[in-house]
Amino acid sequence: MIYITRRERFTAAHRLFKEEYSDEKNMDVFGKCSNPNWHGHNYELFVTIKGEIDPETGFLINLVDLKNIIREKIITKVDHKNLNIEVDFLKNKFTSTEVIAIAIWEELENNIKQMGASLHCVKISETENNSVEYYGE
Ligand code: NI
Repeated sequence: MIYITRRERFTAAHRLFKEEYSDEKNMDVFGKCSNPNWHGHNYELFVTIKGEIDPETGFLINLVDLKNIIREKIITKVDHKNLNIEVDFLKNKFTSTEVIAIAIWEELENNIKQMGASLHCVKISETENNSVEYYGE
C-alpha cells in the first residue's frame, strides 16, 4: 500500500454565523470568523490517496489525473469565491473548516475510486497554525 498527497491552494471568503444569533453573540461564539462583512483565508488543501502500485507504470495513479480532478471538482469552484453563497457543494452548509473537509471528501471519493485508488485523507489548513483532517469516518 502506498500513499500519495497532492497539495492545492485556494483563497476564499466566508462567515461563520447562525441566523438566530445576534451579531454580538455570533462574534462571541465564532470569533473573527463571524465578521458580518465577511473575511478571507488562504486555504491549503491536502488530498491523500492510497492504493497498490501499478506494476506496469510504477505509479499508484497518474498524478496529473489527480491534480486535474481536484482542480475541476474543487479548486475552480472555491478559489476567489464566497464559500457561504457561491459553491454548489457547500449550499446550505456551515463553512467551518471541518464541514468543508467533509464536503470535499464527498465530492472526491467516487472520482478517485474510478481512477483506481482510494481516498485516504482530506486535510485543510485555514491558517498556518490550524488544520483539520478527515478520514471518511
Ligand atoms: Ni474564517
